[in-house]
Amino acid sequence: MKERTLIIIKPDALQRNLLGEIISRFEKKGLKIIGFKMMELGDVLLEEHYAHHKDKSFFAGLKRFMKSSPVILTVLEGPNIIKSVRLIVGPTRGYEADAGSIRGDFSMSAQYNIVHASDSLENAEIEIRRFFAPGELFDYPKVDFEWIYSEEEIK
Ligand code: CMP
Repeated sequence: MKERTLIIIKPDALQRNLLGEIISRFEKKGLKIIGFKMMELGDVLLEEHYAHHKDKSFFAGLKRFMKSSPVILTVLEGPNIIKSVRLIVGPTRGYEADAGSIRGDFSMSAQYNIVHASDSLENAEIEIRRFFAPGELFDYPKVDFEWIYSEEEIK
């Protein structure tokens, strides 16, 4: 089984026009995008996704924040995916994250921290199933192109 993780690009990132910047960091690292969509998250999905935070003082604020605009959900695939993505993303609190990581470069907040990334392979599979149907995940390339020119162009 290939290693996969779920990334949620949060409302603060969309509202600050950071989507391309964030996706490009994952792409440049060599991680493969196998699922990608935009969604508005409602109370039911948020209460399931953040069930482990339901007794925290910030839970109501977290839901309000996550509903403030659509989010982008993406599934990334690659070796050692949990560790490599968490290094690219940085720790939860932006003000503790190293410069060079997504949160280190773009967040000064524990709540408005730009992205969510799964914390284990087991949770990644649960989270991917929560947001993606099997048909929304893609296995590619089907053909190994050389990307220089197509044989059909040479007449
Ligand atoms: P995430 O990785 O999506 O997991 C839980 C989220 O809760 C976290 O990112 C933050 O958006 C939010 N969060 C975590 N800690 C705090 C906090 N101390 N105050 C407010 N929000 C928090």
